[in-house]
Amino acid sequence: SPIPAPDLKSCSKATKTGSKDVVEYSCCPPTPKELNNIPYYNLPPMSKLRKRPVAQDVTKEYIAKYELATKRMKELDKDDPRSFMQQANIHCAYCNGAYKFGDEVLQVHNSWFFFPFHRWYLYFYERILGKLIDDPTFALPYWNWDHPKGMRLPPMFDRETTPLYDARRNPHVRNGTIIDFNSPRDEVITNVGQTVTNNLTLMYRSMITNAACPLQFFGARYVLGNNDSKGQGTIENIPHTPVHIWAGTVKNTDLGGGKLSLGEDMGNFYSASLDPVFYCHHANVDRMWKVWKGLGGKRRDIIDPDWLNSEFFFYDENKNPYRVRVGDCLDTKKMGYDYAPAAIPWINFRP
Ligand code: C2O
Repeated sequence: SPIPAPDLKSCSKATKTGSKDVVEYSCCPPTPKELNNIPYYNLPPMSKLRKRPVAQDVTKEYIAKYELATKRMKELDKDDPRSFMQQANIHCAYCNGAYKFGDEVLQVHNSWFFFPFHRWYLYFYERILGKLIDDPTFALPYWNWDHPKGMRLPPMFDRETTPLYDARRNPHVRNGTIIDFNSPRDEVITNVGQTVTNNLTLMYRSMITNAACPLQFFGARYVLGNNDSKGQGTIENIPHTPVHIWAGTVKNTDLGGGKLSLGEDMGNFYSASLDPVFYCHHANVDRMWKVWKGLGGKRRDIIDPDWLNSEFFFYDENKNPYRVRVGDCLDTKKMGYDYAPAAIPWINFRP
């Protein structure tokens, strides 16, 4: 059967990925007043589509708005479910063992929940940002690492004094360093041209060769009571995970705030979304879902009711708690947003 929205009453301690260390603070969301009657979310009628722009192409004005919205989010009271910390903790709660069904730990990665969970997550994050600057058309930028121009940290995240900067990011990702999807830990790239070609070839593999049918792309089936059949989808595996590892610290770095040993921020589930670039990275992951469906063949959404009827819990931009369904997030336009078009050069990089 489908997984229900997590039971908030039993939300408890989270554990850092790859260790036995407990997260020092609670990742659980504020408790809603009506704990037992959390309503279903209905997609609001749409007035104007939010168009998510390419992160490399945005204007100064756009960046200023995005910074202001993020700043305001960081300034909200820490108990406000819309605050930056609470938003980051959503990822921690869903990925580090805070939610359980009986003895079973909820984990939205490594399975077919990867795409729909993050889609809903970004959906509310984006609406909150828009609300905080009074702009219902505000749309998150997407980091198009699937294009040679996008295979580096988008510059707006690399300015130290802005709210989009994260001091706990790996310093080697700064100043336009290119990413290698194959070895994200390598600090020195000797042959940029070759690395770009390899990355594009890996994109082709994750989108086409190895993702001819739904479960390959989305990831392994996961139903209530069966959380062991783990398997990442092709995009989750590459390049999604390498981008996280690349931006996170290497073991035992001390950036001034004490030793980090678990890849913080981007390289560990509990801390990943403490880096504002997380949402820009995931916007492109989300875009890949849409692009993949347009590639033809058997590339379609899953029709299994256990997937479609699974649920998550989120607060919206007005601090109201909701249950959302996987089946309601399959069409970005119905959700009120879309992606600015961009070339997909990897389509010509059959291995
Ligand atoms: Cu929830 Cu990119 O991880």
